[in-house]
Amino acid sequence: MEKLGKLIYSGKAKSVYEYKDEDKVVVSFRDDITAGDGEKKDSLSKKGYYNTLISTKLFEILEENGIATQLVKLIDSSSMVSKKLEMIPLEVIARNLATGSLIRRFPFEEKTPFNPPIIQFDFKNDEFHDPMLNDDIAIALKIATKEDLAEIREITLKINEVLSKFLDENGILLVDFKLEFGKDNNGNIILGDEISPDTCRFWDNKTHETLDKDLFRKGEGDVMSAYHEIFNRIISNEDIKRWSIDSN
Ligand SMILES: Nc1ncnc2c1ncn2[C@@H]1O[C@H](COP(=O)(O)OP(=O)(O)OP(=O)(O)O)[C@@H](O)[C@H]1O
Ligand SMILES: [Mg+2]
Repeated sequence: MEKLGKLIYSGKAKSVYEYKDEDKVVVSFRDDITAGDGEKKDSLSKKGYYNTLISTKLFEILEENGIATQLVKLIDSSSMVSKKLEMIPLEVIARNLATGSLIRRFPFEEKTPFNPPIIQFDFKNDEFHDPMLNDDIAIALKIATKEDLAEIREITLKINEVLSKFLDENGILLVDFKLEFGKDNNGNIILGDEISPDTCRFWDNKTHETLDKDLFRKGEGDVMSAYHEIFNRIISNEDIKRWSIDSN
C-alpha cells in the first residue's frame, strides 16, 4: 500500500492528504457520518469503503462521457488519488423531483418532477449555514465569475443526464444530488469531492424506497444496508478486480 502524505485537511467525512505528485492529493473517505450541519454524528463501519467505490464508479462513468473529474486512481478501498483542485465554495445542487429542503422552503408538492431539472447554487460555508445564492451574489462575493457559473451549470446538467440514465438502468432513481467543483492549475473547471449516498438522493426506481443518507438524517432503517444496496446495483466483480483492491 502506498503511504499517505501529510494531512492537508480533515472535513466531516473525508480527509485530504498530500501526494508524491504536487498537482495531486489523496482524498480519503472515512466512516464518519454527519447530518444537520454536523449536529448529528456517528461512525458506520464500511461507509468509507462504499462511498469510495461508488464515487469511483460514478466518476468513471462521467469520464467515459467526456466530463472531467478529479479521479486519477484508487490506492486502496478508501483512498482516491485525485487532481489537486482549488475548490470553488459552492454546493451545486441538481433536482429532478421536489423533496427535502425544497419542499420545506417553497410551496412545491412532494415528488413534483422538474424537467428541465432545477439547478441551485448554495454558498458552501458552515458559519453562514450554506445559504442559497443567486448569480449576482455569487459574483459579488467573488466565488465565481459569470462565465464560471454558466459553465458549472452546463456541466451539471450533463452530469445529471449521464448519471440519471446509468442509475436508472440499475434500478435507481436519481432524485437530486450535490456537486463540488474546483479549478486545476490551468484554470479548468473539474468535478471534485464525491458522488455517493452521502451527497445524492437515491430511490429505488419502482418502490421509491430511500437508499441514501436520508435514512440517517431521519433515524430510519439500516443506513449501511442501503449503501450496500447501491454498491451492489452499480459495482461488479469485474470493477473490483480492475481496481485491484480487496473485495472486503
Ligand atoms: N480534488 C480535491 N482537491 C482539493 N480539495 C478537495 C478535492 N475534493 C474535495 N476537496 C475538499 O476536501 C474536503 C472534503 O472533506 P469533507 O467533505 O469531509 O469536508 P467538508 O466539506 O468540510 O464537510 P462537509 O462536506 O461535511 O460539509 C472538502 O473541503 C472539499 O471541498
Ligand atoms: Mg464535504
